[in-house]
This record gives sequence, structure tokens and C-alpha cells, in this order.
Amino acid sequence: MLMYTLVLVHVVLAICHGSFAEKMMRPKFKDIKIWSDEKFVSHKVVYDSNDPHLNFSMEVHQDLHDVDIHLEVRIGNKQDSLYTTTLNSTLNVCRILGFANKSPVGRFVHGFIREFGNIVENCPIAKGSYFINKFWWPEDPTTAMLPELEFEIVWQAMLLDASKKRTLIMNDHFGGEFVVQDVNNLKPGIFAMLPKIA
Ligand SMILES: *[C@@H]1O[C@H](CO)[C@@H](O)[C@H](O)[C@H]1NC(C)=O
Ligand SMILES: *[C@@H]1O[C@H](CO)[C@@H](O)[C@H](O)[C@H]1NC(C)=O
Repeated sequence: MLMYTLVLVHVVLAICHGSFAEKMMRPKFKDIKIWSDEKFVSHKVVYDSNDPHLNFSMEVHQDLHDVDIHLEVRIGNKQDSLYTTTLNSTLNVCRILGFANKSPVGRFVHGFIREFGNIVENCPIAKGSYFINKFWWPEDPTTAMLPELEFEIVWQAMLLDASKKRTLIMNDHFGGEFVVQDVNNLKPGIFAMLPKIA
């Protein structure tokens, strides 16, 4: 689910800025706090900024009947102390998986992420190991005229029991900034990927 967030953040930025030059805007994570309850799940997230990728691994210790994800994404201009709340919502994982399995866009995103590892496909989420290795979202070159942006992502998973009582099982905070830089290891842009689904 974290991967959907990152794809979403990228798409938001791509829409905001378009692409003109051989510059790339990449996130630089400054602050990553990962927490899991260790009873239902354990998980880890690691990031490499030189060969940009994320690895996510999760051990589910007991079957998870139903899970909500709470997501807050704030992206703001560094010169401006006011953060813009871009996104603040709670999503149901089981409904997203239903969407991912049924709609063409969902299948595209889900299929893209699936290439990186063993991901959650269905609800209830079965006990076992899930991982995503060397995940990176498609990049498009960007312009050098962008303001430097800061971001903050709060990502929480809550287990829902039969009576809809919520228990926090994951709580991650990612803070950092998007930095425009010249790169020689551009990952394929989103449009370059499209023929793959034809
Ligand atoms: C992510 O996983 C891949 C494949 O196992 C590994 O080669 C890479 O070093 C890992 N990256 C980090 C940042 O640990
Ligand atoms: C996000 O939404 C929740 C519930 O609607 C609210 O309690 C919380 O304060 C909001 N967070 C931000 C940063 O706006």
C-alpha cells in the first residue's frame, strides 16, 4: 500500500510540473520512522538514494481479516512555512484490492508493483511473508525551475475486527525533500511503460 502512495505522489508531481529538461526531481528522505505492533505484523522499509529504490518487507503473523490504511501526505514549498495538506484519507485495503483486480487502471498499477515482489493480492490477508524489492516509480525528466519542495507522509495500518474496532498495527512517518538534480540513471517514464500493458 505504501507503493500506491508513492506512485500517487509521483503522479501528483508529474501533473503539477510537466517535463522539459534532463533534470530529475527525486525525493531525499531525511527522516524515516517505522513502527509495527509485532503481534499481527512486523515490517521494514529501506531506501537507497544513489540507485533510487525502496525495499519493503512485511511478515504477517496472523491472518488479517480486514485492514484500513490511513494516509496523510503533505507537500509544501520550503520557502513557505505553511504546509499544504495534499491528501488526508482513510482507505480500505480490501476494497482497493477489489478495485485493483477489477479496473484497468488498478490492474496496471497492481501489475506494475507485482513485478517487484510478493504483494498482498486478496483479503483476508493470509499469514506469511510479503516483500517488494528494488521498487521505484517511473520517472520523467523535469524542469530546473521548480521550487524545492518538502514532503511528509504518514502511513498507518489499522486492523478491523468483526465489530469494526480498530487496532493500529503499522505507523510510519517519512519526511524529506524533493531535490532537483542531474541524473544519469533515469528510470523509465510513465509513458514509456504504457506499451507493456498493450
Ligand atoms: C533491496 O533488495 C535488493 C534485492 O534483494 C538488494 O540487492 C538491495 O541491496 C536492497 N536495497 C537496500 C537499500 O537494502
Ligand atoms: C486528517 O483527517 C482526520 C479525520 O478527518 C483529522 O482528525 C486530522 O486532524 C486530519 N489531519 C490533518 C493533518 O489535516
